[in-house]
Amino acid sequence: MAKSALSFVCQNCGAAYNRWQGKCESCGEWNTLAEEDTTGATSMPVSVRSRRKGRTFALESLAGKSQDAPRLPSGMAELDRVTGGGFVRGSVLLVGGDPGIGKSTLLTQTTSLLARAGHRAVYISGEEAIAQVRLRAERLGLADAPVQLASETSVEDIVSTLSEGSVPRLIVIDSIQTMWTDTVESAPGTVTQVRASAQALIRFAKKSGAAIILVGHVTKDGQIAGPRVVEHMVDAVLSFEGEGSQQFRILRAVKNRFGPTDEIGVFEMTGLGLREVTNPSELFLSERDLGTPGTAVFAGIEGTRPVLVELQALVAATSLGTPRRAVVGWDPSRLSMVLAVLEAHCGVKLSGHDVYLNVAGGLRIHEPAADLAAAAALVSSLTNAPLPTDAVYFGEISLSGVVRPVAQTSARLKEAAKLGFGRAVLPESARGEVGSDAGLTLNAVGGLTTLVAEIAARGLKGNRESATSEKNATPARFRRQEG
Ligand SMILES: Nc1ncnc2c1ncn2[C@@H]1O[C@H](COP(=O)(O)OP(=O)(O)O)[C@@H](O)[C@H]1O
Ligand SMILES: [Mg+2]
Ligand SMILES: [Zn+2]
Repeated sequence: MAKSALSFVCQNCGAAYNRWQGKCESCGEWNTLAEEDTTGATSMPVSVRSRRKGRTFALESLAGKSQDAPRLPSGMAELDRVTGGGFVRGSVLLVGGDPGIGKSTLLTQTTSLLARAGHRAVYISGEEAIAQVRLRAERLGLADAPVQLASETSVEDIVSTLSEGSVPRLIVIDSIQTMWTDTVESAPGTVTQVRASAQALIRFAKKSGAAIILVGHVTKDGQIAGPRVVEHMVDAVLSFEGEGSQQFRILRAVKNRFGPTDEIGVFEMTGLGLREVTNPSELFLSERDLGTPGTAVFAGIEGTRPVLVELQALVAATSLGTPRRAVVGWDPSRLSMVLAVLEAHCGVKLSGHDVYLNVAGGLRIHEPAADLAAAAALVSSLTNAPLPTDAVYFGEISLSGVVRPVAQTSARLKEAAKLGFGRAVLPESARGEVGSDAGLTLNAVGGLTTLVAEIAARGLKGNRESATSEKNATPARFRRQEG
């Protein structure tokens, strides 16, 4: 018999140690080590491992008859955008997200759509009883879809059952943390179990050609084994995100062997389930506080799609020795850089101010093109000068304070014009790129100094006159919302 191998496994990243320690050296988390029996995880029982002669197998040529379509579109365009065009045969996809964000809802809808289209789609819930899953399906109006449903947690039972009959096109396992396999002794939910169960399911997917979606909960306290260990094993990792208080949900690919990782899918949570949002800009701009200082609309690009979103800044005097810098939805080091450039080149003193920056709607921006919009929002808040409500901003700021061009100028402008914006503040060099048929007034800025001066001048003018002249510059669709 194999000697039982006890070791301490980090429940966050899966690193193993032979003695307990407070901090995991691999991922840096504290108090995540738990004692686990890893006998079966790292080695097979000696009886199986005995020096058996290898089985011979047939070698194939590169060319060959491929089976029917390797990709299966889900019927939800926003989901397909993120996966790269549908579920790949024999692939395994991990969908992670906070509890309650809507993972089970999304996957119930997906399996139902596929089942209605005549594909064999299986939904295995390890968390909910059949009755609960049925209740959800009923609420979503999907109870009639011929999905094959089970409430099971044994991986061996699941694999045996699904090996019979035609190969399922899609199998949802909700969630991987509830699964367990006989091959290891650890309790369900531990890293060793999660890893071994995922391994067995991945093996089944590759062998049978079924696409499998594993659901994984993300917990910040590290109590339940994080799906982090599974991330390296699967073909794609999608993260389902959203602000608890808001209805938007954003699906993002964190890793994708078969497609892009920069596309986002946008959904809205409704009583009837997740509704696809084909024009995210409209959603992100639907709750604008028009005419308030400190807000600027950024014309961004997410993957292949232009997305307009509001950046909100608050700059407030502080008596603290070290002023606060807090940012939600954007890179904090990018904010530090913009603040440093404002201070060094534009004479904007912010060292005595707390600075907060927020991207509205729970979106996370990765583009440096947001620099100009962030700077505009910051200066607007500092000088208490509202920016024109019909303007969008984009451009990268260099350390020398020059506003640099960014990609896809015309796509950004087209989206802004479509949503009723009247002008764009953009890099000098971008103006030549689009010519005169942009559909908006182009306000090119060569350096950040120019922008700061313009905003400051608006602040002085605004304090002298009233805000009435501003109303005339507001596009019709925003005017009615102004109080
Ligand atoms: N009766 C209901 N009516 C409307 N929305 C509901 C109802 N029950 C649950 N929801 C929504 O569904 C969400 C839970 O979705 P679910 O798919 O179970 O999340 P997850 O699987 O990610 O934990 C809730 O946060 C809520 O927004
Ligand atoms: Mg769920
Ligand atoms: Zn760790």
